[in-house]
Amino acid sequence: MSTVTKAGLEDVVVSTSDICFIDGREGRLVYRGYDVDDLVAHSSFEEVAYLLWYGALPTRKELDAHVKALSASATRRLPPKVIALLRTLPRRSTPMEVLRTGVSALSAFDPDAADNSREATLRKAVRLTAQMPTLVAAWERLRRGKPPVAPNPRLGLAANFLYMMTGKKPTDLATQTFDTALILHADHEFNASTFAARVTAATLSDLHSAVTSAIGALKGPLHGGANEQVMLMVEQIKDPARAEAWIRKALADKARVMGFGHRVYRVEDPRAKHLRRLATELGEQAGNTAYVQILNTVAKVVTEDKHIYPNVDLYSGAAYAVMGISTDQFTPIFAISRVAGWAAHVLEQHGNNRLIRPRAEYTGATRASYVPVAQR
Ligand code: COA
Repeated sequence: MSTVTKAGLEDVVVSTSDICFIDGREGRLVYRGYDVDDLVAHSSFEEVAYLLWYGALPTRKELDAHVKALSASATRRLPPKVIALLRTLPRRSTPMEVLRTGVSALSAFDPDAADNSREATLRKAVRLTAQMPTLVAAWERLRRGKPPVAPNPRLGLAANFLYMMTGKKPTDLATQTFDTALILHADHEFNASTFAARVTAATLSDLHSAVTSAIGALKGPLHGGANEQVMLMVEQIKDPARAEAWIRKALADKARVMGFGHRVYRVEDPRAKHLRRLATELGEQAGNTAYVQILNTVAKVVTEDKHIYPNVDLYSGAAYAVMGISTDQFTPIFAISRVAGWAAHVLEQHGNNRLIRPRAEYTGATRASYVPVAQR
């Protein structure tokens, strides 16, 4: 056996995949051949989910049917027993804990739970993608002592989510911003949560199990949890005038600055520019430009001093915060988009499966003599 180990599997290629291409030097992100910059300009999250799952852009008829399936109240609505389960959870439960628990519970109510055929997994992908926004919004309401808002089938996924969170129809700019954020987070090759999903799927386990694994992996601050940490940093800095001194001190203290750096990108993450633009526009419309000003100053200093560039998590939170979304909901929002990518990867894994089972280079003892507990 080879004894070459790569900490964190850096640059290790574990599989072929037709879903997502990242050019880390050029700063390009491509889904099924299409540059995300073009998808942001012309597409919608629903269309991107179709592209990821089916491998090609839909015709008008296919898109209409797909949007209808994702928007139907019967698909978006949660089983009453899942709502009852949410009500039993302590109110202080974090939204990521609730999402992980809720997705796992939804499996028990899914008519295709035990069927891993491609057709059944596609039906489950539609249901989970439609239900996860409802789950996230329902918890937001319940923990505030308010009843969940029923989904509105006339609204697209982005607008409906914002509507279920607040009970109010969102502005066009908020809807467009949110839809763009969903497009940008929909897939990212073999990131930690997607890899977790594929490892689970490769045991021939089902989509709900794979997505539950993925949510657990996304929760950590080195992955999806970073956007929440960025906002906590912004709240600590508070005033744009304090940003430069704050970040210089953090760097001098060798702090890890959330929202910067990436395993693959050597330049700015191509998603960051879109989120910076949208966070700026939303902030200007809402008369709150402080978040973006703080982040711009932090970005300038970190980039110049450390040559580490902004990633997707730097500006997303500033946009969500201006929309009135709580900081601890940022990572669940990441999940309601990434489920599209997770499902695409589960379909691909099941389509050409082999158990994923790597080896460890063992560095422990090999011939220890057992000593009975009474003699230790
Ligand atoms: N702030 C400060 N220094 C950073 C940094 C950051 N955000 N990201 C990387 N570095 C530095 C490390 O300290 C290390 O320096 P060293 O070689 O002098 O020790 C070097 O860059 C390489 O970092 P490493 O942690 O080995 O890179 P990685 O590929 O394992 O990690 C991330 C990638 C994303 C986990 C890492 O950049 C990070 O922790 N970023 C912050 C969390 C975040 O925003 N995550 C969301 C990713 S989309």
